[in-house]
Amino acid sequence: MAGDNERSRPSGFAMTPPGGSPGGVTSGGSDKGQSDKGQSDKGQSDKGQSDSDEPDEATDDSQTRELGDDELVDLVNERTESDVDEILSRLDRELVGLVPIKTRIREIASLLLIDRLRRRYQLGSSRPSLHMCFTGSPGTGKTTVALRMAELLHKLGYLRRNTLVSVTRDDLVGQYIGHTAPKTREVLKRAMGGVLFIDEAYYLYRVENERDYGQETIEMLLQVMENERDDLVVILAGYKDRMDTFFQSNPGMSSRIAHHLDFPNYSAEELLAIGRLMLEEQDYTLAPDAETALAEYLQRRMAQPRFSNARSVRNALERARLRHADRLVSSGAKQLSKEDLMRIEAEDILRSRVFDDDSPTEIPYEAEAGTDGADTDVDKASGDVDKASGDADKASGEAGDKELDQPEAGPDLGKEPETKSA
Ligand SMILES: Nc1ncnc2c1ncn2[C@@H]1O[C@H](COP(=O)(O)OP(=O)(O)OP(=O)(O)O)[C@@H](O)[C@H]1O
Ligand SMILES: [Mg+2]
Repeated sequence: MAGDNERSRPSGFAMTPPGGSPGGVTSGGSDKGQSDKGQSDKGQSDKGQSDSDEPDEATDDSQTRELGDDELVDLVNERTESDVDEILSRLDRELVGLVPIKTRIREIASLLLIDRLRRRYQLGSSRPSLHMCFTGSPGTGKTTVALRMAELLHKLGYLRRNTLVSVTRDDLVGQYIGHTAPKTREVLKRAMGGVLFIDEAYYLYRVENERDYGQETIEMLLQVMENERDDLVVILAGYKDRMDTFFQSNPGMSSRIAHHLDFPNYSAEELLAIGRLMLEEQDYTLAPDAETALAEYLQRRMAQPRFSNARSVRNALERARLRHADRLVSSGAKQLSKEDLMRIEAEDILRSRVFDDDSPTEIPYEAEAGTDGADTDVDKASGDVDKASGDADKASGEAGDKELDQPEAGPDLGKEPETKSA
């Protein structure tokens, strides 16, 4: 339990004082680019840096009375108090597909809940290790699920803070001798009590460089994952094949990971459902032929370079909103109805260059190395090359500098590090 962590800590890993970090998701080591990182999801744009007053302590204090052998425990009450059902049903509602992932989250939630009840009868309930690895292609929901996980683990009293600190190699590893340990230590300090999310964790290990400073970070992480596992959950994320190679070279890391979750690519139907959900959240509707156009758009987009699953859907819809707005404004109409303001028409989607048969796969965007996570959408009319909103370049540290705050309650779908442009 959160309260029992009177263990010895390696020097330097001071606990973050209560409230020391806004009750939410915080960034890695550097401050670059945080201020302009928007939030892309409804219901959270105003929560980006929320200063949640959420108490650090877990919410189960009132539920700890010891029970006699003959007493019964109120499971319904326990579920309500912990909000676990609410969190799980929100997960179901707001995330399309991901059935195996949702199943595992449900299992973890059940285990923690039952452990709480067992403790009240003084039954053994050793604290499970919950370090995890999330693998999958860009835009499959890894960051989003990690945020939900942080919230759930906090609600169930496993973590004392509803916080996720998201970092990449650059936040942890220094450029010069002596820089790495303080950098890593600082990140660990910020993450303590919550979740440390390391995106593209395999970059920590550089095979080609025998004495790469990343090794120092890995060693510190290994130590903390073992010694501080009562007070920190580490989630590693990235592509599956690269992560597998990383684990082969770092068996100590692999053995500390309790849950390996693989996020599959979404099917065309799931992508469309994600699109509908995103529009619904933003109070937009699709005209019937716009829905057909979106389905066609997604089919085409899936076959193109730098397709990034749900993120590409989000980007496509952002572009459709721009075209919708432009259509209304340039229509010369004097009055508009609520319906006009809400309804995306087929043409708002069909104007994308994704439909341009002359350049079906050649997206004229000069990708930097390692930008597989990027997604582009090009406007047919203007010919603009648009590195559309929300597809910030992973390699440039997009994921490394996110300071995302976990709202106390309410939807935080996709509170992810997407850079908003247009
Ligand atoms: N199953 C889903 N249902 C609805 N929206 C989703 C789903 N999965 C992802 N999204 C949305 O897609 C966007 C990208 O998701 P997210 O950032 O979590 O992906 P990721 O796997 O972390 O990507 P990357 O590997 O590029 O960091 C977010 O806006 C998120 O809300
Ligand atoms: Mg991510």
